[in-house]
Amino acid sequence: MKIVISLGGSIFAKDHGVDLDYIRGFSEALLSLTSEHEFYIVTGGGRTARNYIDAGRGLGADEKFLDTMGIAATRLNAMILRSALGNTNPNIPARVEEAKTTGREIFVMGGTVSGHSTDAVSAMLAEQIGADLLINATNVDGVYERDPKKDPGAKRYDRLTAEELIKIVKTQGYRAGTSSVIDPKAAEIIRKNRLKTAIVDGRNVDNIISAIHGKIQGTTIET
Ligand code: UTP
Repeated sequence: MKIVISLGGSIFAKDHGVDLDYIRGFSEALLSLTSEHEFYIVTGGGRTARNYIDAGRGLGADEKFLDTMGIAATRLNAMILRSALGNTNPNIPARVEEAKTTGREIFVMGGTVSGHSTDAVSAMLAEQIGADLLINATNVDGVYERDPKKDPGAKRYDRLTAEELIKIVKTQGYRAGTSSVIDPKAAEIIRKNRLKTAIVDGRNVDNIISAIHGKIQGTTIET
């Protein structure tokens, strides 16, 4: 299968820095599966992006410039992942059209242009390569009717149609550094291209591997 993974930066780029054990575990798990699948990874900006976006906002920078700083953080995280994968080519692709894999190499990129998150980039990448599966590895275990951090009683959905997903996420606005379970733009691309999508808690690599093996412990977006 061709598999795109949106690896949320919040999973591995935290307040205390980069979680090396996580990055190592994720990389080893994927490398062991490259004879069966082609992997395309989009890294998020995590705490690094938010720290710089907050600082820039505090200094009066405009939204577009803040996004540009966020993108720089996502690319820095792409470099960290590449370090673990043994690929130290410093040219991080800036466009999804550059996507390619050579043999067992894992493709890694970060953000592209201002105005969306790496979730949207991963959906665009999935569209570009004709992916069989898009995995959104984030820091919640699926899509909830309301933000479970604010409302612990909120119900989680095991399955949703892309239309239902759009309804849930479009109530949330977009600005640089916004954190929602999935970017509304990504949800639109998923709907348009009928992309099979899994939204899982990526903090545990096993959840990502299970999704690759067809056992989605989170929310499945039906095509
Ligand atoms: P992300 O929001 O994609 O990374 O990018 P994240 O913080 O890892 O997301 P999650 O919540 O963990 O999944 C950080 C910021 O960089 C800018 C946006 O401002 C975004 O909020 N960005 C990123 C862009 O403008 N364009 C991109 O293509 C990617």
